[in-house]
Amino acid sequence: MNILKLIQNGSKSLKIKNIQSHVLDSELIASFVLNCSREDIIANNQKNVNFEKISFFNKLIKRRQKYEPISYILNRREFWSKDFEIDKGTLIPRPETEMMVDGIIKFFKKKRISFLDVGTGSACIIVSILSENINSFGVGIDISNKAIKVAEKNILKFNLQNRSKLFNRSYENFYGYKFDLVVSNPPYIKSMDIKNLSKDIRNYEPKLALDGGKDGLDVIKKVIYKSRSTLKKNGVLAIEIGNGQHKKVSRLLKLFGYKIKLNIKDYRNNVRSILSVLK
Ligand SMILES: C[S@@+](CC[C@H](N)C(=O)[O-])C[C@H]1O[C@@H](n2cnc3c(N)ncnc32)[C@H](O)[C@@H]1O
Repeated sequence: MNILKLIQNGSKSLKIKNIQSHVLDSELIASFVLNCSREDIIANNQKNVNFEKISFFNKLIKRRQKYEPISYILNRREFWSKDFEIDKGTLIPRPETEMMVDGIIKFFKKKRISFLDVGTGSACIIVSILSENINSFGVGIDISNKAIKVAEKNILKFNLQNRSKLFNRSYENFYGYKFDLVVSNPPYIKSMDIKNLSKDIRNYEPKLALDGGKDGLDVIKKVIYKSRSTLKKNGVLAIEIGNGQHKKVSRLLKLFGYKIKLNIKDYRNNVRSILSVLK
């Protein structure tokens, strides 16, 4: 069988499961299995594929047929133009988070800062900020041991071990440091809404990374409250929030002594992160 036929077969198997990105996913899986770029497999699509690779390809297509996200199948995700290692212990980094990172980088320009990333997951936020602010230092904490293991791999991959530190710890149990910036993309989905998420999220992404408790604000509240003691005076809190949480979270920020500096919106014009200064 040649590459073209392999991709067509894979795409057909995904289409019958109503997977919208069936062609792209089949091409991505083929390029992963054949260990070459998507451009290369398209340019050489008449080449034959051996039996071993066909059966590996079919195995991965079967996983995708069960709605496993492509990032978990390939163990990678691009974020801030970098290739991050990902597994089921971490959230798949999202574009809204890239927008928050963009806002932070523009806010601080090239200023040297120390910062804390609460719920670091794959360390995508730390790595991105450190790659732009070359004199800065970042600390990442996560309650999930599995996530910290992935974060460690990415810190090593991008050679940032001298400018960062990771702790497997909850924010509630984190003491002793003060930062110029606390950034967090906390879990913020209401517990009762988890069952309504699409299958690829609901069945595969870690609950610890999604579930924000009864009103979705459990961890957001902790981050706002606790950051009063981990931020320096005039330190910045950058927090990602869920759709529709803007008003409530703004109110909480003001109540706890923060002054809102910037609301960052997603492509649908919803405020999805807030930068505020601790007064
Ligand atoms: C939405 S994910 C964000 C992951 C990553 N920062 C990103 O943006 O892709 C939230 C992360 O917070 C962690 N987490 C949840 N509650 C926490 C807590 N109380 N303290 C520290 N980390 C927590 C979860 O394990 C998860 O990795």
